[in-house]
Amino acid sequence: MEFQSCVKIINEWDIVAARQLGRNVAKELGFGTVDQARITTAISELARNIYLYAGQGKVCIEKLYEGGKSGLLIIASDEGPGIPDVRKVMEDGFSTSGGLGAGLPGVKRLMDEFDLDTTIGKGTEIRAIKWLR
Ligand SMILES: Nc1ncnc2c1ncn2[C@@H]1O[C@H](COP(=O)(O)OP(=O)(O)OP(=O)(O)O)[C@@H](O)[C@H]1O
Ligand SMILES: [Mg+2]
Repeated sequence: MEFQSCVKIINEWDIVAARQLGRNVAKELGFGTVDQARITTAISELARNIYLYAGQGKVCIEKLYEGGKSGLLIIASDEGPGIPDVRKVMEDGFSTSGGLGAGLPGVKRLMDEFDLDTTIGKGTEIRAIKWLR
């Protein structure tokens, strides 16, 4: 693994720290300002979900180098209650708290790859990748 850095999400300030980490790594990889904004918005959504629904967890940022292309991987994980109806939450218009980033479907749209793994009573791990082009 070339690079991975994590921020523990315990309080609201940690959401800001996770965003900052994501922005720094995105800059280092050479993402433009628009993609930096997409990435930081996705991180905010995932970190805020951890804070609100799981209580605590972490957001890790990894640099990916694969077959000549590079990318940024966000891993948001927690040991919270899990998400009961994943299909439903992935439908647009489900999100309840009225945020700006449009929740998990928004994260999926903002990133290139999106993978959600959740188990009731065990926790949730979401991985999302943005490729540099
Ligand atoms: N890490 C998590 N652990 C447990 N439940 C979660 C987690 N993330 C999301 N959820 C559940 O999935 C639902 C949908 O999340 P999503 O982020 O799409 O929308 P929202 O948080 O309700 O609203 P918004 O993000 O638009 O303010 C949440 O309402 C919550 O019930
Ligand atoms: Mg949310």
